[in-house]
Amino acid sequence: MDINIGILKRADSASLRDIQGLLAQVRNGSEKDTATMSELRDVLKDKNTLIIVAKDDARIVGMAMLCVTVRIGRRTGQVEDVVVDDSYRGKGLGKELMYKLIELARRKKLKAIYLTSRPARVAANALYQKIGFEKKETNAYCLKLSL
Ligand SMILES: CC(C)(COP(=O)(O)OP(=O)(O)OC[C@H]1O[C@@H](n2cnc3c(N)ncnc32)[C@H](O)[C@@H]1OP(=O)(O)O)[C@@H](O)C(=O)NCCC(=O)NCCS
Repeated sequence: MDINIGILKRADSASLRDIQGLLAQVRNGSEKDTATMSELRDVLKDKNTLIIVAKDDARIVGMAMLCVTVRIGRRTGQVEDVVVDDSYRGKGLGKELMYKLIELARRKKLKAIYLTSRPARVAANALYQKIGFEKKETNAYCLKLSL
């Protein structure tokens, strides 16, 4: 398998279509809005957000996002939207995407990388622990701001 892992630089309609397909697989239809071209462009312009993609030829078959949080005296990363297309799972792409994300986080001199994953996501939880993420005992809260 000749798959290229790197940072997404350009927003075009093919990338948007692939990303929409991937997000539908990680968000379980819970998001009412699909990603738009203007959202994708905004993310690519934001220097504190990186989209790491796995590409098979021109098609994006996996992705992971690193969002840098800048506070006074502390820069950390939050991992979002880690997903590999159903037909490409179990081939090491999730691990490669995460290793690339960690390398980029180190280059940005982040102190730590955080993520959350529901216990029902067995593959994801196994992946994160396998590559060194440690489980923290904390309460996660959410205040929903729209229906
Ligand atoms: C989680 C996900 C990204 C893993 O991608 P992947 O490319 O299949 O993972 P890899 O092939 O790189 O596997 C890496 C490790 O993850 C674990 N893993 C992968 N699939 C697994 C499965 N079905 N069951 C248990 N563990 C699994 C294993 O520890 C594996 O290491 P190993 O191959 O050395 O045993 C993929 O399953 C996915 O997209 N799931 C749906 C979306 C999702 O849940 N995203 C996470 C949101 S928090």
